[in-house]
Amino acid sequence: MRFGRFDNQNREYVITQPDTPLPWINYLGESKYCALISNTAGGYSFYRDPRENRILRYRYDNIPFDQGGRYLYIRDDQTGKFFSPTWAPVYSKLDKYECRHGMGYTTIKSKCLGIETEITYFVPLGENLEVWKVEIKSAKSEIRNKSEARNLKSKTITLFSFIEFCLWNAVEDMTNFQRTWSTGLAHCEGSTIYHTTQFGYWKDIFAYFAASEKIDSHDCQRKDFLGDYGYNTLQSPKAVVEGKCSNSKAVGWAPIGAHCIKLKLKPGQKKTIIFVLGVEPAAKRRGSPKKEPRGSLAGSFLDPKRVDKELQKVKDYWKDNLSKFQCETPDQDLDTSLNIWNQYQCRQTFAWSRYASYYESGIGRGMGFRDSNQDTLGFAHMLPKEVRQRILDLAAIQFADGSTYHQYSPLTKKGDLLGYSDDPLWLVFSTANYIKETGDFSILDEKVPFAVLDRPVQIGHYPHPLIPLMGREKGKGKREKGTLMDHLEAGILRVYQDRGPHGLPLSKFADWNDCLNMIGKRGKAESVLVGMILVKACKEMEKITGSRREVGILTEASGHKKYRKIADEMQKAIEKAGWDGEWYRRAFDDNGKPVGSKSCKEGKLYLEPQPWAVISGIGNREMGIGCMDSVYKLLFTKYGLKLLHPAYTKYYPELGEISTYPPGLKENASVFCHPNAWAVIAECILGRGDRAYEYCKAILPISQNEIAETRKTEPYVYCQMVAGPDHPDFGEGKNSWLTGSAAWNFYAASQYILGIRPEYDGLRIDPCIPRAWNGFKVRRTFRGACYIIKVSNPKRIQKGVKYLMVDGRKIEGNLAPIFKDRKEHIVEAILA
Ligand code: GLC
Repeated sequence: MRFGRFDNQNREYVITQPDTPLPWINYLGESKYCALISNTAGGYSFYRDPRENRILRYRYDNIPFDQGGRYLYIRDDQTGKFFSPTWAPVYSKLDKYECRHGMGYTTIKSKCLGIETEITYFVPLGENLEVWKVEIKSAKSEIRNKSEARNLKSKTITLFSFIEFCLWNAVEDMTNFQRTWSTGLAHCEGSTIYHTTQFGYWKDIFAYFAASEKIDSHDCQRKDFLGDYGYNTLQSPKAVVEGKCSNSKAVGWAPIGAHCIKLKLKPGQKKTIIFVLGVEPAAKRRGSPKKEPRGSLAGSFLDPKRVDKELQKVKDYWKDNLSKFQCETPDQDLDTSLNIWNQYQCRQTFAWSRYASYYESGIGRGMGFRDSNQDTLGFAHMLPKEVRQRILDLAAIQFADGSTYHQYSPLTKKGDLLGYSDDPLWLVFSTANYIKETGDFSILDEKVPFAVLDRPVQIGHYPHPLIPLMGREKGKGKREKGTLMDHLEAGILRVYQDRGPHGLPLSKFADWNDCLNMIGKRGKAESVLVGMILVKACKEMEKITGSRREVGILTEASGHKKYRKIADEMQKAIEKAGWDGEWYRRAFDDNGKPVGSKSCKEGKLYLEPQPWAVISGIGNREMGIGCMDSVYKLLFTKYGLKLLHPAYTKYYPELGEISTYPPGLKENASVFCHPNAWAVIAECILGRGDRAYEYCKAILPISQNEIAETRKTEPYVYCQMVAGPDHPDFGEGKNSWLTGSAAWNFYAASQYILGIRPEYDGLRIDPCIPRAWNGFKVRRTFRGACYIIKVSNPKRIQKGVKYLMVDGRKIEGNLAPIFKDRKEHIVEAILA
């Protein structure tokens, strides 16, 4: 069953009924002011950091699910009946409903009680505010003939706005009520409500909520709007029932913003009212906010003409961003994903890592080191300058000994959590990818101080009695400066030096698989996967060094021998201890027993090391084909590849958290979407385009639009995982939006299936497509020029470009040159 459709012309997803299986959300704003909004106007906003600077309160895991948002009530004053034009929070039946999630904006249209509304929410580019443009119209369909029109009186309606201010720190807000209920401050001047909790001492920002109309009354105190405890709820607040607010002020308790606006609408008449919710980062405005003339903070954003211009700017911005990669393949769903939604999701994961969504509360995880580095892979082509800065920020939470904090707060840039063995290696991939995209080797010479451990920090994401044994704080105390290149090298050496009995990297608290935390007393658990990632990272380092020499930055590439040595040594260790006969093992536990091996009772085959062996060039082709065939045979389901087989059915203390989940959920054999993309890449490296495409399609969110009642999460974005076949809800998506699946799937499909791959010395055209395709086209910006790439496949094969025609000239091989001339270049390739 469908709940909506894709409108590609407008780059929108159109939701046609409000009661979607889960809230289907959108992100408004770029990296400063962010607003999450659901298809019924639920959600929260924050400024730069969802924990430290939360603007709107959100009630997580609520009944109903989505509580807290940007609410409006419309009351027909003749009858006293009212409704919410966004369905929530009144939930009365609407005669019409449509929600359009677009790039950076959301529009919700509805009709009820003879009143039509259209509300557009967006964050103007670069501003610290969100605009709600509300159009209200007395529906024309009400008037059946001319005489009726003459006789019909104007409608008197009352429009109420309602938001609940969060007291900035979202953890404190939800926990420490004995204090917080005595802190909240809000008051109204003219049509602007000010939220000034802690302003002038612990906070140098305040919030405001302005209306373009003269207001009739207002409320700033929740109990006055809703009614005393037990009297009313968000579904029928006292103020709305009675048709007026009580002009309350919040001095403690629960500050809110509610405007009450009386409107007279002639039949068919439309009015536009604008609300602006924003923050003023007011270092310059110490003390209480100055008396502002009406709406002056919101300024001209209260003017509908300005609003329309700003909305257009947001649309143009996205058009431009997306234009850097556009494809036309025989598969329209794949095009919709790659050209619009997948890239859009890459932007949001880049901006918010795994911090703020409907499933990440915005109070816990911050910007992950591993996650954020990987997120850049899907974004570097779009806004490389932002990626450059992110890479440097991430490097700054790495210690001089090469290990890293696991995450940081975007506001304070302070790091947190230690002990993940794979973390340092991801910096190599983000940096290499950035340089390949931009040619900017200078990033390697940027000075980035190493982090210091300035307080006790937990190892791993949950406390564990054995963890103190894992701590190795040596070298974490010194503040040293290094270049980014020094950081990369320190990371490689750290992973290489911390090896276990089989010569493989120690797993430490955990590696990429957070839940495979094989913590034991001896601290000897090893990760085959990290060994494989290390090999690939060394090969990247070798290439970086070699390429720097080629472009004349280095006179000799002395470093590259060192990396080759580490890669060779690790490769041998993996080939010796990591191969299980038909596939690669995943790890060795603290007792030296293999994990992900035929000899295990459960969890015999793990997905991750199979594609990584191929990606890293470990083992021979036969082994690569063999392990990937095992993947197909034992892990593939109609919704994608599950993470392991068979699922764990009991708790294995030597494996840890992974075996605490019910079979088919999370890392215990769900379809984990992120490593599915690795399988796509591996199949393309092996030249098997049909299979790569089969994997790509199985987890493509759009493929689930027709079965949205099963999938439940938004059909326009990837989710972290899909319940696996061992679970009763097989096929149900979990944890949508913020997931490494976005970047990796974009990377896999664009750089490996379509094969348009930036390299240090040019743009590689190396597609690996399904036999059924007769070709495809891609328009891609690369190093300051636009490449119009046409690939044809007359013989219906999967891979193999022998030469290119570039602007009509033949070039042997498949590397298109760098032009940097801001011009368009036609690149033709034939699979032969
Ligand atoms: C989550 C984490 C990611 C981890 C993955 C597998 O998606 O954000 O860091 O690699 O789970 O455990």
